[in-house]
Amino acid sequence: MDNIYLRWAGCGHFEALLGDINVCFDPYLFGEDLERAEPIFDYIFISHEHFDHCHPKTLRKLCAGDRWKKLFVPIGCLTPNEPVDKNYGDAAFARDLPVTKHIPADKVQVVYPKYQDVERYGRREFPGPFEFDLGPIQVEVYESGESARPDLPTCAYLVTHAARDVAIFHTGDLHGAYPPLENLRGRVDYLVHMKTPMGPLVDAVQPKFVIPTHYRTDRQSEPIPAGHWPPNLTDVNAFLEDLREQIGGKAQLLPFTAPIQYEVEMPAKQVKWAWEWYNSWDIPAWRAE
Ligand SMILES: [Fe+2]
Ligand SMILES: [Fe+2]
Repeated sequence: MDNIYLRWAGCGHFEALLGDINVCFDPYLFGEDLERAEPIFDYIFISHEHFDHCHPKTLRKLCAGDRWKKLFVPIGCLTPNEPVDKNYGDAAFARDLPVTKHIPADKVQVVYPKYQDVERYGRREFPGPFEFDLGPIQVEVYESGESARPDLPTCAYLVTHAARDVAIFHTGDLHGAYPPLENLRGRVDYLVHMKTPMGPLVDAVQPKFVIPTHYRTDRQSEPIPAGHWPPNLTDVNAFLEDLREQIGGKAQLLPFTAPIQYEVEMPAKQVKWAWEWYNSWDIPAWRAE
């Protein structure tokens, strides 16, 4: 069986190349990465209308070409909580919304969560669609977090490739667990999550692997320029160890580094951690010492 490829590209941007289909969640690119970006995805999923998840500059590059078919969004990307600049502060902008200012409306599909966070937002009636079949992949929508209003629910996506027996759950800016997430038990391989606390979410979902995202580092290879959202972690290793402790052995932590693309051995679903050695010198500086 061919291997698959997973990549965290910074913030909430996550890509899965599954062989016969490529998907991307919350794409968010800058500088040369943005200029060089190729529209290699069949489907793109947006969690919510905040600028770091629904990023028109990136979407204009990726929502193009023969391969791309559809952009899936929550309703807030089309009818945000107006007036946008006042209500969202620096989290969303009138210049960006609705997203159909940048992407053709007939290629934008609004979707709604099938499973709601009733405790936080109350019980609501949504029109759907809540789940859909996209050929090789099946998609189910769950409520995420950071909704501008209860009637503007945000979306977390379960994407399952049945034939390849692999499933990814991208949580968007979900802040905590809620009971219907237990429906995901035994169905998620890769939980791509951003916000802590991690423990209750892992207890609810019981994924095989957890890939933490939505933080920035001061590494030279960091794809998001300094001064941009999200904020830097002061100590990435300490953060990852803290997450590992929160997870408590119930799932395996996969400490991806953005923007490295990782090959995943199938059907074992084991990430191949490649050790890429390089010298940071041409002539050893210590020779002259
Ligand atoms: Fe957000
Ligand atoms: Fe965010």
